Amino acid sequence: MCGIVAYIGPKDATTFLLEGLQRLEYRGYDSAGIAVAGKGGTLKVCKVKGRVADLAAAVPPRFKGVTGIGHTRWATHGEPSDANAHPHTDNTGRIAVVHNGIIENADELRARLLADGAVFTSETDTEVLGHLIAAHAVEGTELEDAVRAALAHVVGTYGIAVLDATQPDRIVVARNGSPIVLGIGEKEMFVASDVAALVRYTRQVVHLEDGELATVRADGFRTFTEDARTVTRQPSTVDWEIASYDTAGYEHFLLKEIHEQPSAVERTLSGRLDERFATAHLGGLNLDARELREIRRVKILGCGSAYYAGEMGAQLIEELARIPAHSEPASEFRYRNPVIEADTLYVAVSQSGETYDTLAAVQEIKRKGGRVLGVVNTVGSAIARECDGGIYLHAGPEISVASTKAFTSTVIAFALLALHFGRIHDLSPADGRRIVAGLKALPGQIREILAGEEEIAKLAAEYAGSAGMMFIGRVRGYPVAREGAQKLKEISYVHAEAYPASELKHGPLALISPELPTVALVPDDELLDKNLTTLGEIKARSGRVLAIGHRAPEAKLADHSILIPKSEPELDPLLLNIPLQLLAYHAAVALERDVDKPRNLAKSVTVE
Ligand code: G6P
Repeated sequence: MCGIVAYIGPKDATTFLLEGLQRLEYRGYDSAGIAVAGKGGTLKVCKVKGRVADLAAAVPPRFKGVTGIGHTRWATHGEPSDANAHPHTDNTGRIAVVHNGIIENADELRARLLADGAVFTSETDTEVLGHLIAAHAVEGTELEDAVRAALAHVVGTYGIAVLDATQPDRIVVARNGSPIVLGIGEKEMFVASDVAALVRYTRQVVHLEDGELATVRADGFRTFTEDARTVTRQPSTVDWEIASYDTAGYEHFLLKEIHEQPSAVERTLSGRLDERFATAHLGGLNLDARELREIRRVKILGCGSAYYAGEMGAQLIEELARIPAHSEPASEFRYRNPVIEADTLYVAVSQSGETYDTLAAVQEIKRKGGRVLGVVNTVGSAIARECDGGIYLHAGPEISVASTKAFTSTVIAFALLALHFGRIHDLSPADGRRIVAGLKALPGQIREILAGEEEIAKLAAEYAGSAGMMFIGRVRGYPVAREGAQKLKEISYVHAEAYPASELKHGPLALISPELPTVALVPDDELLDKNLTTLGEIKARSGRVLAIGHRAPEAKLADHSILIPKSEPELDPLLLNIPLQLLAYHAAVALERDVDKPRNLAKSVTVE
């Protein structure tokens, strides 16, 4: 959430800043701004409420500089407005700052700065940084020393980039809880909060650690700690393809990412299935078989879709390994003083590896001596680094705010973990082989479902006009229903509620009417008859039903059906979810929503 970019070099900074911000727009998109410094010691700032395209239109023609910083915002302190957009400056207009994160003692700092004569022009916590750095940047002080001195007073999380009009030969950046990446070019340097903004320009990057700062100049950089000790950071090479950051001919990132699922699943599985011993190999767990056998419970933590993927994961672990497993929103867990047990394995799930609530939950568990594995997509992210071990998804970058391929790959990672766990407990070799074969067949089966997109799009257009939709599923189908409802409401803004099919008669049946259609997950498993009975109850109340399963229910039980290929019963939820993604996508398109950037949301929520 929120994106930072910065440039220093011989070219015009504005061009890179605008293009970089556009690539980071998925992280926040309610306002955007840039500041550039020219050789003459002047600072120009342009910022607007709205999208990066609105900013580009607002930038005056001669807005050029050799050094610049930029920001795209997801509002936390103060509504989206021109004044609250970053960069923020001090009163003399000499220092400009862009910031991701939250300054917790902003009120206290603001009061002190006001007393010293600072005039505030926004409601943001970030503005205190501009004034505070300016207060330390007295004549003759190097910018890096002023930033270090200012940050010593700051409590909170930040990734910042700072520009000083009188020192345009450098940008100073700092990281504490919010990512900052340096990109190394030919006699030019780039900065971003996310490599997505950099890959067009360079593959050589340096990730700052928490508590580190850097002075970035056109010909290089120096990294150092808060107490001014120089630290050496070796550049690493970004290995994700540039194409991953483009829509590649698809109308939206979301659609592209839905279609990328067969290959994402292949990558998550790659090198991890062992057919001979009917198990899975997970090199990064950092737990041997003896330690794993001592585990009595599994607690999975994540937010949003990551939490729902965790619910499917818990189901897989209970079914295959017969170990009690439960998924809980990380955002709730961290606030309820949870009991941390030595024989529980904690698993944190996060696509971005940055979600603050999930990170805070991991830190709380570790503080109390618990063991945490991460199921994470972004290599080297904060959550991945904080965990004791884990499973990387290798799903490739996910740009659309709503998660699709990372969701599916997360469930695959849990299936691998459950298989591995199961085989050191009492899962039989025959059942192990069945799951291995089932997993191998999934990419082809997902392709088959995607081939039916046109039909699903027609149904989506038909149902999109509903005032709301009910999603129901039983046992394995219930987390699918929850994720399906989440996807629909996130991107189409159609109200959607998920319920266990078994619970319908205990309350929500009162809502059923022709205006509230139900999407019912009816896989051909041991619960099929019970699910069909529920459909009968809905139809008896004039409800409309869209059934998703392996066989079309009789016409008197369902108005429409979407059929999917049969997997192993434990893996069916993975496939049942795919039509729901397409349904949500095409409903959002039919309603002309901004599919990749739904209102009020952001891709990674790096604040509380
Ligand atoms: C935000 C996004 C959701 C996402 C959740 C968790 O709320 O809007 O789509 O599922 O964060 O993100 P993570 O990166 O931790 O998986």
